[in-house]
Amino acid sequence: MSVTTIVIANQKGGVGKTTTAVSLSTGLADLGYPTILIDCDPQGNIASFLGLEPGPGLYELVVEHRRPTEVVRLMTGLGYPKLGLIPGDTATVDLETLLRTSPRFQPAQAFREALRPFQTNGRNGKTTVIVLDTAPSLSSVQVAALSVADWLLIPTSPEYASETGIGALVKAVTELQQAGANLNLLGVLPTMVDTRSREHHQTITELEAAFPGLVLPPVRRLIALAEAPREGKPIWSYAPKSEAALDYAAVLKEVISRAGL
Ligand SMILES: Nc1ncnc2c1ncn2[C@@H]1O[C@H](COP(=O)(O)OP(=O)(O)OP(=O)(O)O)[C@@H](O)[C@H]1O
Ligand SMILES: [Mg+2]
Repeated sequence: MSVTTIVIANQKGGVGKTTTAVSLSTGLADLGYPTILIDCDPQGNIASFLGLEPGPGLYELVVEHRRPTEVVRLMTGLGYPKLGLIPGDTATVDLETLLRTSPRFQPAQAFREALRPFQTNGRNGKTTVIVLDTAPSLSSVQVAALSVADWLLIPTSPEYASETGIGALVKAVTELQQAGANLNLLGVLPTMVDTRSREHHQTITELEAAFPGLVLPPVRRLIALAEAPREGKPIWSYAPKSEAALDYAAVLKEVISRAGL
C-alpha cells in the first residue's frame, strides 16, 4: 500500500498555497486517488474555502488521539467522495503552543502516527495522497509537516519570488534531509502571474535558472480563482472550462508525473 505526502509551503502570505492545496487535492480525488487534505494552518482557511463550518481537526487527531474517522470529513456532498478533509480549527493554535513548549512532545512523530491510519486507504491500487496546507510561517507545526512529507511544493507569486522565503525553505529541506527526512522539492509554482508583465516573465526566467527543471507550469492571476472560494467550490466545479481550471490542470498533470503517482 503506498502513500505519498505533499506539503504546500511558503512563509510568504497570500501566494496561493491554500488555492493550490484545494485545487490539487480535489483534482487528485477526481482522478480516483484516495486523498486526504489536511489544514495545518491555525487560521483554518480550508473549511471556509470549501464553505464548511469549522470542527474537530488536526489538534484532536494529533494531540487527543481521536480516531481518524472522527476528524476526517468526507467531501461527498461537494462531489468528491474520494477526498477527506481534516480541518484546521482554532485549536491548531494550541497545537503550535504545545509543539513549541512541550519538550516531551515530538511533533514529527505525533504527525507520523496521526497519518498512519490513512496509509491503508488505497484499495483501488491508486496511491493514497496526503496534501498538507501550511500557514505562512516557519512554525513548529510547519516544520513537523515538512518532516513527514515526501514532497514540497512552493507556490510563489512573481512579486515575492526573489524574497528570502524560498531560500529559507530550501535550506530547511536540506537540513531535514540530513536529519533523515524523506523530503524532496517537487517544484516551485509561479502563481498570480500576469502574462503581459515583463517583470513577471523575467522573474520566471530567474526561477528557472535557480531551480532548473523544477519550475511548474505557471498559474495566471485569474478572477475565477478569487471567486471560487466565495462560492465554497474548487475551481473544477466553480468554472470547469475556465483558463484557471486549465492552468491548474497543467499543474496537476505535472505533479502526478513528478511525484510518480
Ligand atoms: N492565481 C490566482 N489568481 C487570482 N486570485 C488568486 C489566485 N490564487 C489565489 N488567489 C486568491 O488570492 C487570495 C490568497 O490566496 P490563498 O489563500 O490561496 O493564499 P495563501 O498562500 O494560502 O495565503 P495564506 O498565506 O494567508 O494562507 C485568495 O483570496 C485566493 O482566492
Ligand atoms: Mg492559506
